[in-house]
Amino acid sequence: MADDPMTETQSDLPLLFQPIPLRGITARNRIVSSPMCQYASDDGGPSEWQLVNFGRFAMGGCGIVFTEETAVDARGRKTHECAGIYHDHHVPAYRRITDFIRSLGAVPAIQLGHCGRRASQHGPLKDRAHLTEADAAANRKPWQGLSSSALPATPGGPLPKAMDLDDIRDCLAAWRLAAQRALDAGYELCEIHGAHGYLIHQFLSPLSNLRTDAYGGSLEGRMRFALEVAETVRAVWPADRPLWFRVSAVEGPGGVWGIDETLALARALKERGVDAIDCSSGGVGGDGPLLPVPRVPGFQAGYSSELRRETGLPTVAVGMIREARHAEALLQEGHADFIALARGLMDDPNWPLHAARELGIADPLALLHPRETQRLRQLEQHAREYPAGSSIGIPFGPAEQVSYSWGEGIARRR
Ligand SMILES: Cc1cc2nc3c(=O)[nH]c(=O)nc-3n(C[C@H](O)[C@H](O)[C@H](O)COP(=O)(O)O)c2cc1C
Repeated sequence: MADDPMTETQSDLPLLFQPIPLRGITARNRIVSSPMCQYASDDGGPSEWQLVNFGRFAMGGCGIVFTEETAVDARGRKTHECAGIYHDHHVPAYRRITDFIRSLGAVPAIQLGHCGRRASQHGPLKDRAHLTEADAAANRKPWQGLSSSALPATPGGPLPKAMDLDDIRDCLAAWRLAAQRALDAGYELCEIHGAHGYLIHQFLSPLSNLRTDAYGGSLEGRMRFALEVAETVRAVWPADRPLWFRVSAVEGPGGVWGIDETLALARALKERGVDAIDCSSGGVGGDGPLLPVPRVPGFQAGYSSELRRETGLPTVAVGMIREARHAEALLQEGHADFIALARGLMDDPNWPLHAARELGIADPLALLHPRETQRLRQLEQHAREYPAGSSIGIPFGPAEQVSYSWGEGIARRR
């Protein structure tokens, strides 16, 4: 950020820190802060929480900063506190966040989504319990979700409405308007959330899609809604801005949707102008014998590798990637083009700075804002001048110095 660390010897830099062009824009590095729902919105609009929370990832040096899954219509939120971009008055509120992220040198990115049948819940702090009429008194009125078929998300859960053709048309119109608003709000990268058991995934998976019309049945039929969303968004998202798509590459062992189906989807998305596949997994659940994908570092990177190799599309690897050397190896070995972190950044918002140090970049502090760079360079300078064990004099008055060997507690007068 301060002085561009990339200009002098870009090709000598670790791949993680090499800038990467994305249609008409360039990300300063390949570290992505992965979308993270905050459950901190008021009628869809962001609060101070989002500004600070996402702002800190831009301050920490990420190349691309996603905000959170942002619903294209009010009904497509999971909870009353979920983010949305379904009113024009949301635009200036998001603009404040995108301006801030961009001012710090990162690409502001939005993930547009619709939760479908996973609507009308409490947030994770209340175990995502379904809202009931009793919640209406606390301004938390339940509502009916939409889905490909009238099947509950969990056994015994509320039944969604199976979308008819008018619902599908209205929903696509909401995607179009939301993408337009995202553009007006200053987002530079848009991702379609097609994973995690939400609406698009509910159309894709034969576990949740029992339709017999053109939107169900064969793989082609089940992909139709996802592809129409991609076409709709691409039609308003400018040609010089990247469009990504997040997939659940597999549903888990025993699932009906696997990597071959994802490859077919990715190829069809590529034909519709999607620029990269963000490789996640899981989500639909249901009665199938679906085990979660075991959570170990890089547990989804194999999907990213396969999709990248087989489709020629750039991919994002995400999932328990915490070590800089691991992230760099995934890029070097051709398994991904971008590395996304969620909880790792929550734990350490300056992860990019620390990764840059770990990978031996000449001037890691240049990733930060000049206000921080300058002060932190001073800090490093002090450490060089006075290494541990240095004998120094600490002034206690105009003519009084107390000798002190640093590392031995404090300077004492006597
Ligand atoms: C608090 C939180 C909120 C999340 N919200 C979203 C979301 O809005 N959209 C999404 O696609 N994934 C979401 N995820 C998943 C992350 O983007 C990421 O794929 C996942 O946490 C694995 O990465 P990690 O191991 O680095 O955390 C969320 C994860 C966390 C921890």
